[in-house]
Parts: sequence; C-alpha cells; structure tokens
Amino acid sequence: MLKIRKFIQERDEEDWVRVWNAAFKEYDDMRQITVEEFRIFEKAPEFDPEGRYIAEFNKEPVGIIHAYVDKLRKEKKGFIRSFGVIPEFRGKGIEEKLVEIALKELKRRGMETVQAWAADSRKDRISLWESLGFRLIRKFSLMIRDLDAIPSGIGENEKVILKNLDKDSEEDLKMLNWLDNECFKDHFNYRPGTLAQTIYFLQKNPFFKIQEWFFSLYEGKHVGYIGVGIDEKYNAERTVKCGWVLDIGVLKPYRRKGIGTRLMLQGLQTLKDKGMTTVMLGVDDFNVTKAMELYKKVGFKVKKKDLTYEKDL
Ligand SMILES: CC(C)(COP(=O)(O)OP(=O)(O)OC[C@H]1O[C@@H](n2cnc3c(N)ncnc32)[C@H](O)[C@@H]1OP(=O)(O)O)[C@@H](O)C(=O)NCCC(=O)NCCS
Repeated sequence: MLKIRKFIQERDEEDWVRVWNAAFKEYDDMRQITVEEFRIFEKAPEFDPEGRYIAEFNKEPVGIIHAYVDKLRKEKKGFIRSFGVIPEFRGKGIEEKLVEIALKELKRRGMETVQAWAADSRKDRISLWESLGFRLIRKFSLMIRDLDAIPSGIGENEKVILKNLDKDSEEDLKMLNWLDNECFKDHFNYRPGTLAQTIYFLQKNPFFKIQEWFFSLYEGKHVGYIGVGIDEKYNAERTVKCGWVLDIGVLKPYRRKGIGTRLMLQGLQTLKDKGMTTVMLGVDDFNVTKAMELYKKVGFKVKKKDLTYEKDL
C-alpha cells in the first residue's frame, strides 16, 4: 500500500509540486508554486538534485522529502527539506517512513549531523523530531508591521548616502555578495555565499520578481545594504499587499550608528511607494548581532515562529 520511491528529474516534477502545494498550504508565509517555478528553482546554483523521495499511498503521491546536501558546505551537515504529507494522509506512519529513508540517505552521503524544521503550530512534527532524538537548537520569527505610518527621527543615520543597486551591473553584484558574506560570517549556519547565488537570487528567483536593493555609503565607502521584494503571486493568492525585507547588513565597524535603521526606513518607504500596505521579514531569534532589536525598534511584531532541530547521524 505504501511505497517510497526516488524522485526522477524531468519526470516527477508535477507529482512533487502537487504534493508540495497540498502539504504546505497551511503556512502563512508560503504560496502555491507552479511546475515552471519549481524547474527554475532546480536550476539554482546551490540546488541538490539528489536525495528526493516521493511517498505513494495506493499508487497516489501523498508525501515528499528532500535529504539535502549542500555541496558548498565544508562541514558534514545535511538537511531535511521540502518534507510534507498531504493533510488527509498524516498520522498513518508515512512521515516516519520518509524520515527513516532520508536519514539513511544522508548518512550514506557522509553527513555527520542533520537539521530539520518545524513550524511551532505543528505539534505532530515537533513530537516526531523529539521522538527521533532531535534537539531544538534554534528559533526563527516571522515578523510583520503595517506600512501606514513610517516613523522618522528614531536614530537613523543622516550622514550615509543611499545608492540604488543596479541588478545588471557586475560590479554592484560583486559588492553585494562581498558585503553579504562579511556581514553574515559569524552567523548560525553560515557558509560563504557564491557570486552565482547572488546573481541567481536577484535575476532569476521565481518568487521575488520585483526587487529593489540599496547600498549605504559612509564617507564614500560601501558599508551596508538592504533588499526588499514583492511576490505578486503570494499577494494575489491571499488578497494582500505585502512586501518583504529580503536581506539587510551593515559592516561590523559601522554598526550602532543608525545605518541599519536608515536602510530599514528606506526599504519600508520603497515598498509603500509600490502600493504595499504591510511588510514581513524572517529573523533568527538568537541572531548574534541582535537584529530583532532593530526590527522591534522600527515597529515589527512577531507573527509566528519556526523551530530548527538537530541530530547526530
Ligand atoms: C542587524 C544590523 C543590520 C543592524 O545594523 P546597525 O547599523 O547596527 O543598526 P542601528 O545602528 O540602526 O541600530 C538600531 C537599533 O537596533 C538595536 N540594536 C542594533 N544592534 C544591537 C545590538 N547588537 N544589541 C542590542 N540592540 C541592538 C538598538 O535598539 C539600536 O538602537 P541604539 O543603537 O540607539 O540602541 C547589523 O547588526 C548587521 O549587519 N548584522 C549582521 C547581519 C544581520 O544579522 N542581518 C539581519 C538578518 S535578519
């Protein structure tokens, strides 16, 4: 009755996307995806085409899992991604079987630890990780604020000059990639991001087709950046006008001078000018630079939490 089979590229995309859409429908920060978008996603430079499995119940695809290996990462850390079972088929042991196969696969591929994820609303998923010996290592928050009144005079640095990033300029893309790596190198799960990844994210990303990025220049030197984006399909599906803060960073020697605040206010205004009424972002609750404090200061509130679990293999 239950059969787990390997995903075959160029054949199984439709089944994968159908299950993905049914399994992830309940999450506020996700939307339905198309097969074309999924194929673009498969072409991301860091994408691991191996390790994908589909669960069939009476020959019907009902569950998916990706035992993901990040080929750019030096440490032997694997990830469980895109793990979902259609709601009507949950609680029948399908999740357990998928995880068992994924863990074996990661071990076979030489991974020493594995990380997995659960929304804090998914008590079944939390119990599953705990019963398998995973331990909670991190919490992430999805934060939101509305865009009716954007504050000013809250400590934003007036001396920095903000400059638009040109998505077609190699020099600008290289600068963003460098700043991003510099700003995030002490962070949880960091590994150097490649220029190809930066280019893919800004130019090919199927979700944020609308993006605006700004650099902050301090005495002529690039010291920070912000990126904001709009996913029009997400907004159409939920009848909202929501923009996203995609990324923000300020170089270490220039922090606590109000540059992050200035960049945030610029990002919020940009989204408002594009007709957005709310804005969301994701943040690691234990971010070493306490980014959440900046977000609270500019008026964001926590909407939901996601949990990261880890286990030795
Ligand atoms: C988060 C980050 C962008 C903040 O930039 P910044 O230029 O230092 O921010 P600001 O100077 O505008 O800080 C504004 C307020 O945020 C809070 N804040 C910022 N950093 C803080 C820290 N380390 N500890 C406590 N509060 C902090 C404070 O309330 C601060 O106001 P104050 O200095 O008047 O007390 C910067 O620390 C950074 O680049 N971190 C690494 C990259 C990163 O984590 N990005 C966010 C990913 S979600």
